[in-house]
Amino acid sequence: KEAAAAAAERALSSAVIEVPTIEGSDPVVDPLDEFKNVMAFQLSKLVDVDIKILYDALEAPRAAENGHIALSVPRLRLKGKDPIAVAAEIVDKFPVSDYVTLAKADGPFVNFFLNHVKLAQSLFKRIYETKERWGGNNTGAGKKVIVEFSSPNIAKPFHAGHLRSTIIGSFVRNILDANGYDTTSMNYLGDWGKQYGLLAIGFERYGSEEKLLADPIKHLFDVYVQINVDAKENEAVHDEARAYFKKMEDGDEAALKNWSRFRNLSIVKYKDIYARLNIAFDVYSGESQVTDGMERALKLLHEKKLLTESDGALIVDLTKYKLGICVVQKKDGTTLYITRDIGAALERYEKYGFEHMYYIVASQQDLHLKQLFKILELLGFDWAKKVTHLNFGMVGGMSTRKGTVVFLEDILEETRDSMHEVMKKNEHKYAQIENPLEVADNIGIAAIMIQDASARRVKNYDFDWKRMFSFEGDTGPYLQYAHARLCSIERKTEMEVNPNADLTALDDERACADLITMIARYPQIVRETTRSFEPVNIVGYAMKLSHNVSQALETMYVMGAEKNKAEARLFMYWSARITLGNAMRLLNLKPQERM
Ligand code: ARG
Repeated sequence: KEAAAAAAERALSSAVIEVPTIEGSDPVVDPLDEFKNVMAFQLSKLVDVDIKILYDALEAPRAAENGHIALSVPRLRLKGKDPIAVAAEIVDKFPVSDYVTLAKADGPFVNFFLNHVKLAQSLFKRIYETKERWGGNNTGAGKKVIVEFSSPNIAKPFHAGHLRSTIIGSFVRNILDANGYDTTSMNYLGDWGKQYGLLAIGFERYGSEEKLLADPIKHLFDVYVQINVDAKENEAVHDEARAYFKKMEDGDEAALKNWSRFRNLSIVKYKDIYARLNIAFDVYSGESQVTDGMERALKLLHEKKLLTESDGALIVDLTKYKLGICVVQKKDGTTLYITRDIGAALERYEKYGFEHMYYIVASQQDLHLKQLFKILELLGFDWAKKVTHLNFGMVGGMSTRKGTVVFLEDILEETRDSMHEVMKKNEHKYAQIENPLEVADNIGIAAIMIQDASARRVKNYDFDWKRMFSFEGDTGPYLQYAHARLCSIERKTEMEVNPNADLTALDDERACADLITMIARYPQIVRETTRSFEPVNIVGYAMKLSHNVSQALETMYVMGAEKNKAEARLFMYWSARITLGNAMRLLNLKPQERM
């Protein structure tokens, strides 16, 4: 009876609570915002602080035992007041309601415990309505963004730096998409320059039509290695290559014909490999695709008196900015990497009118991109502010366990086979999997991707075969396992999730409240990640969510529970599964249903 009276009282108090609107918060997209807005409003009656500042000061507590939302009093910057005393005062006066069941002081923090049943009601409904789109928002609507990433060089190995650019770039793309941006993913191939003159000459000497068609990437690499040996011994080969490239730049059809076959065949093969990684590009551009942008840029540079001649070459002196000297045209009139980048940026702006453009390139090229951006600025383009270099550290030790020269494909092969071996050890489970090699491939790729995404971008890391395959600890296989386990709940109980399930049947346990609030945090994490573009934000979240799931599963079963409870719990695990799956997809993983 007492409980009923308390519930009635709460219902009454909630009836008068109006949810205020606060800039930057969106209770429709993010059900937790409804709670935060109400709390900010209630707090604004207790302290003399703007409601928006209060909203921003409501954060995830450092530890789960500290409740679901914490108010950091120091963040309110109350002059001349002791934050600890203020926290105590707030706790004293804060109204318990349908939203917040308890407020506790902890030094300068106030820790709030939410009514998780009420939260679940709006949260699960939202997830049910949006499914794969759950957690996303529309803040980027109508804004065109270009993400350039991967960008390998034809006839050269796809090295660890390219793999990292691919993983991070695709993540950046996914995050922007989830925030509603109109994104174009672009692969800017290294497909132009004197080395392609060299390759063409090499092909005349060592090329095989048959091998080219069978595996263009490997064959062109072999040819390239061989011709480089020749060139080392004989300087004349270099001259030949330069002359050949000059013909290419002059648009000589015969010279371009072979080159364009190399390019097209390589792209076909790249597409396969990217598909395996769950990645597709909207545009395959490349250094060769830059047209008159370069000339126009050079002309502009000249007009702005930024070009100087030096030894027959044209340079831009950036020493004033501590960025050295940039050669933009060689003696023989041919262009360089930087020249093509200037032209490419210009042409992209004209073609796409982007709101922003991101270059996902290794830190080794920090200077190159700084030079590029400085030149764009000096050219007077107002959009020079709209380009960003998202850089990353090096990956060490990425070689196959057998050899040293690495092709991405070999790494993927080896990863898949190792994973397959691990899977075979569990004979019973293995027998139930329809397509074990495909599953092994997906888990193996998850292992690589999560290893890469687990540290901040700037950090260097070493490829660690043993650790990345482990099912324990914060690895890709662990996430895949957590997802498959959630799927198995739905399979085993043979129940369909019921969107009208009575959620008051949810448990009062902490593990239940913790899981629900963790699910609820997802939209905010998606929003916030546009600031840092750090994959580790999402990895960390997905891991915490998985831990909360396994904690909940220790005591709250679906199978064997009475109907109301089973339905409510199932809806909870189903919501966790959708959330985890969406987070994994942001990280470019293919969530597995069985493994
Ligand atoms: N192809 C280059 C490399 O492998 C990376 C290209 C980076 N993008 C750019 N716009 N410069 O080093």
